[in-house]
Amino acid sequence: MSINPVKGTHDIYGYDAKVFDEIEGSFEEIATLYGYSKIQVPVLEHTELFDRGTGEGSDVVRKEMYTFYDKGGRSLTLRPEITAGIARSVLSNKLYVGDLPLKFFYYGPAFRYERPQAGRYREFNTFGVEAIGNDSMLLDVETILLAYTSLAYLGFKDLTLKVNTLGDKEGRKKFNEALRDYFSSHIEKMCDDCKERLKLNPLRILDCKVAEDQEIAKGAPKLSDFISEEAKDRYQQTVDLLEAFGIEVEEDPNLVRGLDYYSGLVFEIHARDESGQKLGALVGGGHYDNLLSSLGGPDLPGVGFGVGIERIASVYKANNAEVAPSIDVYLIALGERTKIPGFALTTDIRNLGYSCEMSLGGGKLPAQFKKAQRRGARVIAIFGEDELDGRSITLKDQESLTEKKVSIDDLEEALAEMLDGTCGCGCHHEHEEGHCCHHEEEKEENGQGHCCCLHHHEE
Ligand code: HAM
Repeated sequence: MSINPVKGTHDIYGYDAKVFDEIEGSFEEIATLYGYSKIQVPVLEHTELFDRGTGEGSDVVRKEMYTFYDKGGRSLTLRPEITAGIARSVLSNKLYVGDLPLKFFYYGPAFRYERPQAGRYREFNTFGVEAIGNDSMLLDVETILLAYTSLAYLGFKDLTLKVNTLGDKEGRKKFNEALRDYFSSHIEKMCDDCKERLKLNPLRILDCKVAEDQEIAKGAPKLSDFISEEAKDRYQQTVDLLEAFGIEVEEDPNLVRGLDYYSGLVFEIHARDESGQKLGALVGGGHYDNLLSSLGGPDLPGVGFGVGIERIASVYKANNAEVAPSIDVYLIALGERTKIPGFALTTDIRNLGYSCEMSLGGGKLPAQFKKAQRRGARVIAIFGEDELDGRSITLKDQESLTEKKVSIDDLEEALAEMLDGTCGCGCHHEHEEGHCCHHEEEKEENGQGHCCCLHHHEE
């Protein structure tokens, strides 16, 4: 009997793998522009990290963690999210001793024992950023701009940014006390989860999906009554600045997020698919004041977001036509004598920086040609016994549908012309009428037959 993948996990290959690379690459490119650098932390951490950091009152920690004891009897957990791991790494490596803020981006898998459905997996991939060690409101705004710009860069149009503030430490404490007082007198009628939530973090009761509990929650104290004037001012400035940057902001007083470390600004970015159907949160994030101190570190604030790559990929794929994986050069070696020299040529072509594959199975030219086309080859290189004896190779450009036989010595130049549109002299300017200079004045200055780098080119 064959072995199935674990429920809620999936394999990523072919076009999907390309889409994942493109999405991660775009986020990475933009995060780099914003001054973030890469960090990679382990998938496996001590369970205590998530209990104390992510919050044992959150559903993610209470119900969804993959926790086990290793052979040494330690309780370990496959990370359900990555922010706590980044905070742990900042402390373990004393990265806070130096210039602040620290600005990191990261990507990799996270694990949650959730009910699998569209866009919800048990092993999923996230890209995220964290800026740690500076409390400026500008950093909150910058984090949202980064997430928003990245999604726009990937072609997302109909985006909704939802924001809220959870207030500061003092206000949160008073709100929690008020919630505990209120729910204590109703808890007997509420679900078992809420009974547990009341003990660990009464705020989480507000997320309960049980209809009767939601009814009771309607009468609960309101978070907005516990937010200090200072926190309100900061929040208003954040909203104003985001709007000044042309981002439409939807203020949602019910947005509390499912992880315990947030304080101050929280946000989510939602999208719709082609048919206008809501897709849920693609991005979730916010500000946190106590995460590092709750892990025994200094009192440093942070702000960040996480984005689910699977969720982005499903929309991205719907908006972008599938592109077959392609290769620069496919070499067809015809005849027994050509096999080894042809094989050596594929290595030479790869050393020039072009992806290259060779037909390994043999067979007649038309069948091999079809295979090369199916493989998405830009250039099909034919290397028969004639070519071998004449130290040449025939190149068929599949885009312009032109063909030429070139000497092996001129292969680099010919491939550069076909694949890069350059003359192969290394200056990488467009090759036009025998010279690669595309500025008229430079053409004149350098004369016909020369490119602006002063290499000579035949007409
Ligand atoms: P989160 O909202 O729990 O936040 O997860 C971040 C994103 O991961 C979500 O917006 C969603 O796109 C995706 N996601 C979550 N669960 C699943 C799932 N089961 N299957 C597929 N995708 C999923 C965090 O994890 C925080 N660490 C974000 C953060 C960073 N806050 C501050 N810094």
